[in-house]
This record gives sequence, C-alpha cells and structure tokens, in this order.
Amino acid sequence: MKINIDNLFVELPIDFKEALKTIEINGLGIIFFIDSNKKLIGSFSDGDSRRVILKETSLPKMIEKNSDFYNKKPHYLPFDCQISEIWTLFHHNIKCVPLVDNDMNVVDFSTSSRVRKFPILQPDIGDEEINNLLECANTGWISSQGRFIKEFEVGFSGYLNGGHAVAVSSGTAALQLGMLALDIGANDEVIVPNFTFGASINAIIHVGAIPVLVDVDPETWTLSLKAIEAAINKNTKAIMPVHLYGQSAHIDEINKIAKNNNLHIVEDCAEALGGTYKKRLIGRDGDATCFSFFANKLITTGEGGMVVFKDKKTADKAKIMRDHGMSPQKKYWHEFAGVNFRMTNMQASIGVAQLKKINNFLLKRKNVFQRYDKNFKSNSQLLLLPKNSWSENSYWLYTLVVSEFTEKKRDKLLKALSDRGIDARPGFYPLHKMPPYQKYSNGSDYPISSFLGTSTINLPSSPGLTFDEIDHIAQIVINELERFK
Ligand SMILES: Cc1ncc(COP(=O)(O)O)c(C=O)c1O
Repeated sequence: MKINIDNLFVELPIDFKEALKTIEINGLGIIFFIDSNKKLIGSFSDGDSRRVILKETSLPKMIEKNSDFYNKKPHYLPFDCQISEIWTLFHHNIKCVPLVDNDMNVVDFSTSSRVRKFPILQPDIGDEEINNLLECANTGWISSQGRFIKEFEVGFSGYLNGGHAVAVSSGTAALQLGMLALDIGANDEVIVPNFTFGASINAIIHVGAIPVLVDVDPETWTLSLKAIEAAINKNTKAIMPVHLYGQSAHIDEINKIAKNNNLHIVEDCAEALGGTYKKRLIGRDGDATCFSFFANKLITTGEGGMVVFKDKKTADKAKIMRDHGMSPQKKYWHEFAGVNFRMTNMQASIGVAQLKKINNFLLKRKNVFQRYDKNFKSNSQLLLLPKNSWSENSYWLYTLVVSEFTEKKRDKLLKALSDRGIDARPGFYPLHKMPPYQKYSNGSDYPISSFLGTSTINLPSSPGLTFDEIDHIAQIVINELERFK
C-alpha cells in the first residue's frame, strides 16, 4: 500500500467509519488529524477505535475537533530533525511520525520504509535574500531597473575574475542572447553535444541556427574533440561546449579548433558555476559563457541567468538587445529587433546575497559529493562522475551510471527510490532520440550519449544534507541495486 499525505492526514470533522476506512487503506494502524492550515491536532489509532467501541453504547457518527476519544498529543518531530531522532521513535514501536514546521504545520511524514522525502535539491535562501527582496518591494523597484542588477553583474564578473556580465531572465535566455549578440542565426551551424539538457539545443533552434549533434567523450561526458572536427564544414559558425553535470570540457583543445576554423565558442556553463579547468574557473574562455540560476543551481535567483562576454562591445550590444533592442539614449528608438530577456531587480537582489555565499555553498556541495563517493566507490555496478587531474567538478547534482541496467530497469529503480522518499532523477536523454531533434542527427547511433542517457541517475544533492542522511540514501540505493540484480 502506498502511503501518502492524503491517506494519513485528514481534516476534522470526519465520519467515524470514514476514519476507520482510511486507517485500513494506509495500513499503518493510525491516522492524524489536521486543521484547515495543516496544523497537527491529534491522532487516531486502531487502539483508540477499539477503546471507543468497548466504552460507548453506540458508535459515534462523527469525530469532531472537541471529541474526547482521540489522542490530542501525538508523537511528532521537527521536519529538520536528525534521522537518528526518527529512528529512536521507531525503536519505541511508533510506526509513523508526522514532521512539522515551527507552526506545527505538517510538511512530511516518516515511516520505517520511507524515513522522509529527500528532494533532489533544496535552495538555501537566507535573511539577506529576504531583506533584499523586501527592499525591492518597499522601494517599488521590482522590474528590471534598480540597484541590484548592476551590483549582481559586477559581482559576478568579479567572481569569475573578468569578463562582461549581462544578467538575463534564465539560462536559456543567456544562451540565446549570447548567440544573438554574436550574430549567430539563420543557416549558421552550431555544434552541440547529443548528451545535454534540451535548453542547449532549443536555444540554437530559437535563434534560427541549425544544431549539429555530435557524440560525447566517455572520459568527460562532454563534447568529443574528434566528433567536433568531423562535424565542421563551411556553414559552421560556433561550437557550444556544455560542461555537463559540472564536468569541464577540454577547453584549450576546443579553443584551438575554434581558432583554426574561425568559429565562435558559446559555452553552456549552466551546471558548471564554480567548477574549474586547469585551476581557472569555468566560464572565462568562450566568446559568450552562459549560466543558469534556476533553484537547483549553485546560486539561485529563482529563475535567471547570466551571459558573460569576452568583449565589452558585444556585451553592450547584448544589453540593448535584452531590452527590446531599444537605444539606451533615445527612448522607444529600436536599434535592433530585440527581445525581452531582462532580469528583475528582485531576482538580482537574491543573486547579490547568494553570490556572497558561493564559496560556502561550493564547499558544502563538495562534502556531499565526497560522502556519496565514499559509499559508492567500491560498488562494481556503478560508475561515478568523471574525475581527472586537470579539472574539478562544480558539484551540481550527484550523478551515477548504473552501468548494466537497461533504461526500463533504471526507471524501475527510480520508482523504487521514489517510494522510499528519495527524489532521484534520470539523466538527460540523448537528444537524437527525441522527436523535435531527430532531424539534427547525423545518422550515427551516438553510442556514448545513448549509453549515458539511459543508465544515469541523479541523487538528492542539497548542500544541507548531513552525512547521516547521505549514508541513509546511499544504503537505500545499494539495497535496491541488490534487489534489482
Ligand atoms: C545544460 C543546461 N543548459 C541550459 C539550461 C537552462 O537554464 P534555465 O533553466 O535557467 O533556462 C540548463 C538548466 O538546467 C542546463 O542544465
């Protein structure tokens, strides 16, 4: 029986028989009562119902808030408690523990088979982010003007140690604006890896260019140098290296190929902020390097992105293009048929606060990855993320390859993990297999991206995960792998 919040927590009043039915359905021998705000107000167990039947001459029709036969002091724990505290209750024969926030509102629950929900990644939003947002609201600077935009752009370039940063509404907008500002458009071919998130190729299609899908390198899971060289022809205008799962591509070699063939480099660094290549931060090499600040990224602005140009003139042009193409000097005079990719001051205000904590976030994520590695490194069924002497991962999403699993078996594993509260995800599907992109395939089987795209899983990677929680998740993965063998 699948236990979920609905068949465990019910609002009062409830029909007495309905309450018994719900206990029967969830199979735990207990339900919990909540008010309309989800505040925990009591519990009702098999034992409670037995006592009512023995005591009362006739069965009550309803259970009301003021009924005296349910438990008004049920066991519960704060949602951010240690796993060991939950286990202590299980050892005392408690089968289910509501997890509540500071206002006693139910946010999750624990059973022995599903200790709690572990989301794939939880952002870390602190007081400074909230105060900055309040400043935007209180001063009325909620759209794309206000002090935070410039501050975020300058701060971001400062973090990268150079480049000209232009803040935009998403990572996808960053890719599109980067290409628009570099005049990449109709009939231009852009080389892109077949193993990436769809936004990389969508951006190419939406600027009117033609994506050319090439396979990835098994050592880095990113663009294969041989495949790039084979794909270049007279229509090629750019290469889009994607530093997938935070692993750097071979940047120096790609730079060399681009230089020899007079090509632009538009780097997709959406997942790679904080990662390094030969000890320099990823994002300093392309003509345009593009970052995402979606909620699961190293730093977030809710939605948002940044495109960083090598050249100031192109960055200035991009700033005009992002604002409908309007001249900064002459209001409503359009210099380009532009776009509206502006970031709001509210988004930037979160970004400014997040940027101050970036090194701390990175360290926390590194600790999470290292702890998972410790659990998995000797497991012969698993391949870990690439590692080499010339780069360091950005520790975005902890990723494993379940090497001998078919796609179907991999998906069954994901479902089993989800039933145990673990929000694991599949890797990115090889682009050439999906209908909108099939026509950009070069007819090859793309063996490496096909293998990686169907046997990869991502595990919960929140920077706030404790070692106990990581060990718990890892143990469940290992147990499930055994079961699926
Ligand atoms: C590789 C890659 N490129 C581009 C993007 C697009 O970023 P956004 O979601 O901010 O548009 C993402 C988003 O996760 C990504 O993973």
